Amino acid sequence: MIKSDEFADGPVLGVETSCDETSAAVLIGSHLAGHVILSQDAHERFGGIVPEIAARAHLRQIDDVVSEALAEAGVSAGEIDGVGVTAGPGLIGALLVGLNWAKGFAYALDRPFIGVHHMEAHLYANSVASPEAEPPFVALLVSGGHTMLLHARKWGDYQLLGETRDDAVGEAFDKVARTFGFGFPGGPEIERAAKTGRPGRFKLPRPMLASTDHPGDPAYLDFSFSGLKTAAALLAGELCAEGGQAALKEAGPDLAAEFQEAALDVLVAKTRRAIQLTGCGRVLLGGGVSRNSRLRERLAEDLAGLAEVHAPPPRLATDNAAMVACVARHRLLAGESSDLNLNADPAYPFPGLAPNVT
Ligand code: KG4
Ligand code: ZN
Repeated sequence: MIKSDEFADGPVLGVETSCDETSAAVLIGSHLAGHVILSQDAHERFGGIVPEIAARAHLRQIDDVVSEALAEAGVSAGEIDGVGVTAGPGLIGALLVGLNWAKGFAYALDRPFIGVHHMEAHLYANSVASPEAEPPFVALLVSGGHTMLLHARKWGDYQLLGETRDDAVGEAFDKVARTFGFGFPGGPEIERAAKTGRPGRFKLPRPMLASTDHPGDPAYLDFSFSGLKTAAALLAGELCAEGGQAALKEAGPDLAAEFQEAALDVLVAKTRRAIQLTGCGRVLLGGGVSRNSRLRERLAEDLAGLAEVHAPPPRLATDNAAMVACVARHRLLAGESSDLNLNADPAYPFPGLAPNVT
């Protein structure tokens, strides 16, 4: 059957279909030779991702997306030396499309296949463009489904430092954007509106950021965004009750600026705590929210002299297959491969992640 020792560092194909991006990438060595990301716009009118629509769209698009990535790389399917695909976490129907496609490809061509964890792939997004973004580092992973701080001692050896107790930060951006009357996805809309707004005109809470917290407290590095989301919804409701939609529209940029600063104050302060606690001099960002330029700016300012900050290029911050191919190549080079019985798992465990001990 398929033998991982056949991998000779030839072209690696990555496939990503965990949510609403259908993406394929070809890495030749460490060079990203082909990369296609097709964002599904069918969800916009629902104001959120509809899992069944996402899965059906992946199924329609996957062949074309892979063909285009191969063509861009100038590589034929037969020249691919190994294939990596997101096996979880994500939407089950969406994951199954990519996973089964990749298994079929690997089986038909007798090539090794690797199931990849979506959030670990977000870490590797940094390495695609910056080979020096290597462990040890503290990672701030911020997406639509996850908010985590972890300490990477080596690739595959991670210590969880803190995580959200309720909503992920990206989810809060998306939901708050909706209550403020912005479009979907909410993160980029809030960032855009905040550019012309003024934080401080309205006041929102900075959850779990008591100055009395100290290392060892379970709350020291954990996050919570549902209270901030509710406070933002109440504020929007009050404005509407007083002045209708016109008042909400007028306040939009200031609301966006205050919400963004509140969320970023917490992310930045907790990352700083993680740096101080671990003594680590490097931070890697990952996940869709790491595309936020204000977050990058705030972290660079706040950690100046303490840690170097790496963020993926914007196109590689949100979901993409280049990061999946990068993990796959790393694993294949280490002689690993996944069994073709591997199943998609919406709660796929983060490989090598030790739980938080506080
Ligand atoms: O990693 P990602 O593409 O998909 C998941 O794995 O969830 O992250 C998507 C999330 C969404 O919640 C989206 O609103 C947020 O990333 N996002 C942003 C920005 N761009 C995307 N949040 C804040 N500012 C942005 N510029
Ligand atoms: Zn993601």
